[in-house]
Amino acid sequence: MNTIEVNVKDTLSAVSAEQIKALNPAAEKAMKMLADGTGAGADFLGWVNLPSEITDAHLADIEEAAKNLRENCDYVVAIGIGGSYLGAKAVIEGLSDSFSQLRPEGDARRCRVIFAGQNIGEDYLYELQDLLKGHKFGIIVISKSGTTTEPAIAFRLLKEQLESQLGKAEASKRIVAITDAARGALRQLATEEGYKTFVIPDNVGGRFSVLTPVGLLPIAVAGFDIRALVAGARRMQAATAEGVENNPAALYATTRNALYGAGKKIEILVNYNSKLHFLAEWWKQLYGESEGKDGKGIFPASVDFTTDLHSMGQWIQEGERTIFETVLSVESTAHKTVIPTDEANLDGLNFLAGKRVDEVNKMAELGTRLAHVDGGVPNIRITVPALTEEYFGELIYFFEKACGISGYILDVNPFNQPGVEAYKRNMFALLDKPGYEEASAAIKARL
Ligand code: PA5
Repeated sequence: MNTIEVNVKDTLSAVSAEQIKALNPAAEKAMKMLADGTGAGADFLGWVNLPSEITDAHLADIEEAAKNLRENCDYVVAIGIGGSYLGAKAVIEGLSDSFSQLRPEGDARRCRVIFAGQNIGEDYLYELQDLLKGHKFGIIVISKSGTTTEPAIAFRLLKEQLESQLGKAEASKRIVAITDAARGALRQLATEEGYKTFVIPDNVGGRFSVLTPVGLLPIAVAGFDIRALVAGARRMQAATAEGVENNPAALYATTRNALYGAGKKIEILVNYNSKLHFLAEWWKQLYGESEGKDGKGIFPASVDFTTDLHSMGQWIQEGERTIFETVLSVESTAHKTVIPTDEANLDGLNFLAGKRVDEVNKMAELGTRLAHVDGGVPNIRITVPALTEEYFGELIYFFEKACGISGYILDVNPFNQPGVEAYKRNMFALLDKPGYEEASAAIKARL
């Protein structure tokens, strides 16, 4: 069986192999802290052994809930933000037909999963409610804390709409809540309304929760094989469990930290397949929230190539030399399209006739890599055999494990996010939330 692979040889113009290897003892120590729970944030290590601990019965329970929603709904709205949104979005976008939402007949195998609660856009919510009018729809409401404002607003609106379309009793059969086992407003509401619920384990933080029902239920509703996803994650769990030699997660973690030490402060995750756009969004949250603290951390950015070669390409080629790239290189496409011959050849493109579109894409990738390395942009390459459930499972676990190792090498707590609270405090104070009276007065005095 092929697997994803990490190649760091194109970073060696910026850091030596010895500089990368010099971080191996720190990576060993980080691996031990993750295994023994002796590092900072040790209460949030439930994701480390999660793939191998997922039971058949648990997967069957998720599949059953997904089947119920699929059979009864034209649309299922998955409500959540941050770690309660991005993982499912990344996998569903990565595996879906690029135009599945636009096909008038739909895709018979797929249920249309729509996301909400990931912003506070009034137009977004208005248009979503308008779309859902007169349609059979269901809701998966996801919030670990059960108190996050964005999803709570979306849920209040859509719950009211569903209840007015179906009546309270019927509506409650089409709502699934995924939240903490006991705490939070959502748990209390779900208990009172009698919703089907799934638990987000206490020891799994939001951005590490895609392999819990948070990610697995929306992915199953969209018609994808969550058993294959988990199987891929299990393979990567085994491949990264011990040692730093031949451990792709440790190699990625040590290389990016060596680059950071050499002044490369920004990491750009690059894809040549637009289906990976949201995997990059998920990755940005994973690394940004885990490492950006104590005045430290690589800034995670992303681009879709070749699209963004026509916008960001100039900066990457010749701008400030503080960046490195991590390229997700997908080896095989799902479909084959050959460029036709044109006798008139007015576009001068016959030199490509008979070639697959993917061959052109691969040469764009190779040409860009050589140009960027020549231009002083070190390049880590992660090859992914194909965009399938198994390889998404591998990628998810790979990036999670590497993130844990990398955060500990950087000497931060990779499992908290204290900085996320600052905007909430100000927003609540500005909105006169009960309990924020003093903060309200103080913030309003500043305006
Ligand atoms: O990674 C995290 O912990 C956060 O990004 C959360 O996932 C996000 O804030 C949503 O929180 P909750 O699931 O509690 O609504």
